[in-house]
Amino acid sequence: MTIKPLIILPDPLLRQVSAPVERVDSELNQLVDDMLETMYEAPGIGLAAVQVGVPRRLLVIDLAKEGEEPAPLVFINPKVIRSSDDRSSYEEGCLSIPDYYAEVERPAAITVTSLDRTGKEVTTEADGLLATCLQHEIDHLEGVLFIDHISRLKREMVIKRFTKAARQKI
Ligand code: NI
Repeated sequence: MTIKPLIILPDPLLRQVSAPVERVDSELNQLVDDMLETMYEAPGIGLAAVQVGVPRRLLVIDLAKEGEEPAPLVFINPKVIRSSDDRSSYEEGCLSIPDYYAEVERPAAITVTSLDRTGKEVTTEADGLLATCLQHEIDHLEGVLFIDHISRLKREMVIKRFTKAARQKI
């Protein structure tokens, strides 16, 4: 397994729409393992493939708490087929926008269809943190970031700060 470098705001790749995964094969499973390793190392609770530079519709999530057994979830070509009318709010962060957190309101429960890492179609009913995390990661596949759900003023401040930081690194 390999820890992959994370793409950080304002990398334009984060705004790219990811293409569907066409084959669930050993190469894809290698990428899944690398993504899990990268997410655990960071550490984070969710990661989309585009965040390691691969714009494909694939994401991993693990909501196990510290000290608990790892519980990796893999979603390939995920699609939201139902969203609840009631909404809930969580403080979100993103491995591509390090050390920035903001409250985001989203549908409280969703139903998602996807393929698992064996290529089997599965349906997931999610609420609570899993619903939020899934929506955050599925947003990544559309080039959408959690800062797109906050006020324009706050968003522009974050983008400005990260753009300045990226320039200083060169
Ligand atoms: Ni993110």
